[in-house]
Amino acid sequence: PRAVIIDTDPGIDDAVAILAALGSPDFNVLGITTVAGNIGIATTTRNAGRVLALARRGDVPVVAGAVGPLSRKGFDVAEIHGSDGLGGVAFPEPPTPPRPGHASIWLAETLMAHPIGAIDILALGPLTNIAQLVADNPDATRRIGRIVAMGGAIREPGNIGARSEFNMAADPEAAEAVLAAGLPLTLIPLDVTRKVRADRAYVAALREAGTAASRAGADLIAAYFQTTTGGESRPLHDPCVMLLALAPELFGCEDLPLAVDCSSGVDAGSLEPAADGRRPVSVALTVDGAGALALLADLLTRRS
Ligand code: BDR
Ligand code: CA
Repeated sequence: PRAVIIDTDPGIDDAVAILAALGSPDFNVLGITTVAGNIGIATTTRNAGRVLALARRGDVPVVAGAVGPLSRKGFDVAEIHGSDGLGGVAFPEPPTPPRPGHASIWLAETLMAHPIGAIDILALGPLTNIAQLVADNPDATRRIGRIVAMGGAIREPGNIGARSEFNMAADPEAAEAVLAAGLPLTLIPLDVTRKVRADRAYVAALREAGTAASRAGADLIAAYFQTTTGGESRPLHDPCVMLLALAPELFGCEDLPLAVDCSSGVDAGSLEPAADGRRPVSVALTVDGAGALALLADLLTRRS
């Protein structure tokens, strides 16, 4: 199995993504690092522990990270994820407290303790922790196998501003630092995540499948139907990160040199073509939506 660290701000779709990753025999989840994003750091950290407790994976360490963006005032989207960050869905409490220390330092130590290229980072929230790692520990950063991150909008409209997506808008400076660093990075923008959509029948099938993870997944997506509008189905943003890492053949990617708008205006966090000769990132632009949904259901139903 591939060694991965999940950096996340759970978050309804983050929780579904974590449950899916824990269901895959092809991932060895070394730990979960948390970041402020959908909601504050205390809640995202608690939620990571709650999701692990439900999956009976209390052996996976949780390390809390950034309490807010690198240099601006934070904002959250608690109206979408609920005041508890998980849409009010019942989860057991974490059996153990988070590991002491800071996410970016734990990331550096863990990368240094493993062979070069052995660890991938699956990033589901604002890129603050990763930007801190890049800034503070270039030696460890060079050891990352690759980063797969949910964020941005290319041709699709944004979900914060007309062109800005939440994970990038929440900390534009962090996103820009990561894109400028020349790392092996695959970005999954809204263009793709909006095409991986769960409808009511999908939720019912997950519930029917009857594993702890599939029932929690059903409850989480059902909660997302309550807190958001959008017709008959809802996009599954963060699970796409796990799906691309496991089944790249479901996605079509293009190499694009990208920069992040770090202005203070409404477009902060939107992506633009980079003009400084930086290394392009691989950007997912197409997806086999039905194949992605089938793989996600499979991951959520694999463990009892
Ligand atoms: C991203 O924003 C968050 O609300 C979701 O968890 C996802 O990571 C989608 O724009
Ligand atoms: Ca997220």
